[in-house]
Amino acid sequence: MGSMSKQSPDRLTIARPDDWHLHLRDGAMMQAVAPHTANHFGRAIIMPNLVPPVVTGAQAAAYRERIMAALPDGTPFRPLMTCYLTEETDADDLEIAHRDGIITAVKLYPAGATTNSASGVSDFDKVRPVLERMADMGLPLCVHGEVTDPNIDIFDREAVFIDKVLKPIRKKVPDLKVIMEHVTTQNAVDYVRDSRSNLAATITTHHLIINRNHILAGGIKPHYYCLPVAKREKHRIALVQAAISGDKRFFLGTDSAPHTDANKLLPCGCAGCFTAINTMSCLAEVFDAAGKMDKLENFTSLAGPRYYGLEPNEDTVTLVKGDPVDYPDHVDTADGPVTVFNPGFPLHWRVE
Ligand code: NCD
Ligand code: ZN
Repeated sequence: MGSMSKQSPDRLTIARPDDWHLHLRDGAMMQAVAPHTANHFGRAIIMPNLVPPVVTGAQAAAYRERIMAALPDGTPFRPLMTCYLTEETDADDLEIAHRDGIITAVKLYPAGATTNSASGVSDFDKVRPVLERMADMGLPLCVHGEVTDPNIDIFDREAVFIDKVLKPIRKKVPDLKVIMEHVTTQNAVDYVRDSRSNLAATITTHHLIINRNHILAGGIKPHYYCLPVAKREKHRIALVQAAISGDKRFFLGTDSAPHTDANKLLPCGCAGCFTAINTMSCLAEVFDAAGKMDKLENFTSLAGPRYYGLEPNEDTVTLVKGDPVDYPDHVDTADGPVTVFNPGFPLHWRVE
């Protein structure tokens, strides 16, 4: 696949990026956040964890209509819809929705793993027939890779999921195309790297920037709390190495997950970082610091569509380096303000 990137030290033109894991919510929140993603991104895989979740093709089609209605007329942004896998999912319904171009993937949440995941899967053998049908029709599975066993330490839940859940599923359904989402550990990076086929991973913006000290040292920082929770620094470094490597199995899924400040700042606050606004600036800073601006396009714009069997976007964006960029510290929504992810360092790259 030909690269479109044109580079000078302070300018980079790349194929328009896509976001392979995004929460747009619904209603007033969606009205406020969706245009920010559509500003920079061509497409995004839309998470189905609404309340109630998006479980059928018809619900995914209706949600897609609501997303398009929240964007200015003529916006070229394309939401790529997902259905939420439950133990009751009907494989025929998925097949029709896939054939009709309504859904691009199916999302697996272990029951109770994260925000609005109560309808997720507890018994993975129950969904095996659906996974087999998905493998047959080439419909990818996006996986939230954390076990929910209360006896497993929260920092170990991704690594244990790989061994206890993901390896058995991939062994039993080897033709299933899997995306391990928002990976946070060296373990996950190694597992993806060592796999021969049908496995890729998304990496978020914030996990390339924060480790668990950012959340917990010197006072608790609720706006850095997300799931999977950020791990030790050595894991963050492994994620950066994977992202900047040019390996086509690692690509951007921001997991931008807006919650109002009121819901973030509770005694039991919601998980999620809102990065839709400044993701491209944050990523450029990370790649530039590593001397790998030439690998940014692969991560944001080429590797994702390639894994999903789609063409990269035909248009481009240009990133320009200069004085620190101004971005708002929050966005206002009719439900209340949503704090924008603060990377903790100045951002010098902006999307022109
Ligand atoms: C997501 C959300 O708020 O919907 N939260 C998060 O911390 N990432 C759910 C998820 O993707 O786990
Ligand atoms: Zn998510």
